[in-house]
Amino acid sequence: MERARIISTGYYLPEKVLTNFDLEKMVDTSDEWIRTRTGIVERRIAGDDESASSMGVIAGERAIKNSGIKKEEIDAIICATITPDYAFFPSTACIIQRELGLKNAYAFDISAACSGFIYALTIAEGLLLTKRANKVLVIATEKMSAITDWQDRSTCVLFGDGAGACILTKENGNRGILSSFLGSDGTLAELLIVPAGGSKNPINEENIKDRMHYLKMRGNEVFKAAVHRMIEASIKSIELAGLKSEDIDLLIPHQANLRIISAIAKRLNLHVERGYVNLDRTGNTSAACIAIALGEAVEKGIIKENSVINLVSFGAGFTWAGMVIRM
Ligand code: ACO
Repeated sequence: MERARIISTGYYLPEKVLTNFDLEKMVDTSDEWIRTRTGIVERRIAGDDESASSMGVIAGERAIKNSGIKKEEIDAIICATITPDYAFFPSTACIIQRELGLKNAYAFDISAACSGFIYALTIAEGLLLTKRANKVLVIATEKMSAITDWQDRSTCVLFGDGAGACILTKENGNRGILSSFLGSDGTLAELLIVPAGGSKNPINEENIKDRMHYLKMRGNEVFKAAVHRMIEASIKSIELAGLKSEDIDLLIPHQANLRIISAIAKRLNLHVERGYVNLDRTGNTSAACIAIALGEAVEKGIIKENSVINLVSFGAGFTWAGMVIRM
């Protein structure tokens, strides 16, 4: 059977580290509150000269290098981001195409918040299996610090910046994407939103004064939906792959909150060692979370040839997604 397969990964985390102790000096919070409520200890913050595209370029370059393929062979670029370089256009994917010199590729962005990477992988799979592309570069990149309200303690402690990338191609056999499960619920859109700056509420002095151009989240409601939907996405994607949870070698969940990850692992009866966690070092990098985690797990040798992994995510929209891959 022909399947879309990830042949390489790459990731990038900016140099600057922002610790919980640094945040104590910025807002009324404590290292203890952040660690016990979220599991986050520190996160990376992009420099002023860095953007979604510049981080995506480094992650993409690394994925291309690790794949051994030539740049000319890449015929599609999909960039998952909710923090694009430009609010409307051009797409961040086109900027990345230019910077990487991928002259034979068509390029476009997708917006599915924290579920963006799994959505993008699903689109890449479709392009490959319907012969619209032979080699696809998927990049998930976020400069969450640019939409974070650094005066709002309920959100600014949660997010970080970074990028992850992978190259997909298709081949016959058992390895590759085994299943994908996507879901959305727009009725809850306002629970996690950047209210101003789009075409509905164009940026103006008043909404800047009201800080409406920054991310707003009703954390508690999002938390409950995230637990429920990520469990659903994991179970459904494993079922669609014709597998059982004990067949999963590694769960790579969206890195929003350690309590959410523990609840999922418990429900799936997965020992904590079979779940990949890096949020203590990265915070929530939205779409980039799973892409970075995947890159790290490959680099560390935790993911080997034929490892069966389950990716699960939840984000603004709401969107959620699950995917099973035999690497
Ligand atoms: N430091 C100290 N106290 C704080 C902080 C802080 N940084 N932030 C909030 N508090 C206070 C609140 O004011 C509240 O105080 P009160 O009881 O006096 O009113 C108290 O702590 C509890 O606040 P809650 O919001 O109920 O805390 P909760 O335990 O729910 O944790 C959190 C908040 C971490 C945000 C959690 O709800 C969460 O992780 N939500 C899900 C996030 C998520 O999954 N996002 C998904 C995708 S993100 C994307 O798509 C971009």
